[in-house]
Amino acid sequence: MKTIATLMLALAAVLSLSPNAARAQDGKLVWDSMSKEYTGKPGERYAEFKFWFTNNSPEEVYIIRAQSSCFCTVAQLPQTPWRIPPGTNGSIDVKMDLAGKNGIVSKGVNVDTTGGPYALSVKTTITPAAATPGMADADRLKNMQTALADRQAIFKKAECVSCHADPAKGVMDGAKLYAGVCGVCHDSEHRASTVPDLRKLNHPTDATHWRQWIIHGRAGTMMPAFTKAEGGPLDDQQIEAIVAHLVRTIPSRGTPIR
Ligand code: HEC
Ligand code: HEC
Repeated sequence: MKTIATLMLALAAVLSLSPNAARAQDGKLVWDSMSKEYTGKPGERYAEFKFWFTNNSPEEVYIIRAQSSCFCTVAQLPQTPWRIPPGTNGSIDVKMDLAGKNGIVSKGVNVDTTGGPYALSVKTTITPAAATPGMADADRLKNMQTALADRQAIFKKAECVSCHADPAKGVMDGAKLYAGVCGVCHDSEHRASTVPDLRKLNHPTDATHWRQWIIHGRAGTMMPAFTKAEGGPLDDQQIEAIVAHLVRTIPSRGTPIR
């Protein structure tokens, strides 16, 4: 008897739970699509997506945040929390940075709301030409010659700043700054052989090492000086943010200099 009663209870629990679970899944916001795709064209730096939603419930819903799985992908909300009255609609813009990317890139964006969580996804297929935006071999060679003649040119010339300086504008986060203005050279699969992989240096590194390189770069190479005082795009606070990010994420190799 006791076993049957337990079974009945369990069954009742399952029956009453499943409709709830289904509702939580559906949520209160109805989306035009949970996943979007884009094919990158040569010369493009960003892939942009727009997710439309409607609040189909009789209650207001607050969008608390939208977070992606990668610094390269940013979901923009006009404000947080963002109030969505019943029956109204809106859209979330998602921007993916294609610099140094190749092939198929998929990223997730988690949207937390008072009406339930939503998992959006974006996928970009990058043609080989688009993986090095605007950079046919001839262009790259020309860019390198320009940089070798004046390594600060990438921060001065209008045709360079969109990729090499603008990504730092108004950004204070070290990881984002790194991805925007350092990773564009150092983490690109297609970079010149003289651009080292900063994660595979064979000598010790510390805050002073990173700071010196970021501030002054090195004359006679393509590594530019990033401080405003020497014609770069970064202020002291931004430089320190990148230094802290590098100290945190790249372990020093070899014996530390004392
Ligand atoms: C235009 C491409 C380019 C950009 C952008 C760039 N670098 Fe470099 N970087 C280079 C090159 C080329 C070298 C090699 C210099 C040499 O030959 O000594 C280098 C060298 C370095 C080194 C020396 C590595 C060692 O041996 O310890 C560090 C550190 C470094 N870069 C950090 C950065 C950081 C941090 C940023 C962003 C603030 C950045 N770089 C942005 C091209 C670049
Ligand atoms: C459309 C974005 C974009 C523009 C515009 C651009 N660059 Fe670059 N640059 C990159 C990327 C991405 C890399 C990394 C190498 C690669 O992927 O080809 C790079 C790398 C470099 C390097 C390191 C050498 C190498 O090829 O690895 C130098 C130097 C450089 N760029 C200078 C310039 C100069 C000078 C200009 C303007 C005349 C310029 N760039 C314009 C995106 C750009």
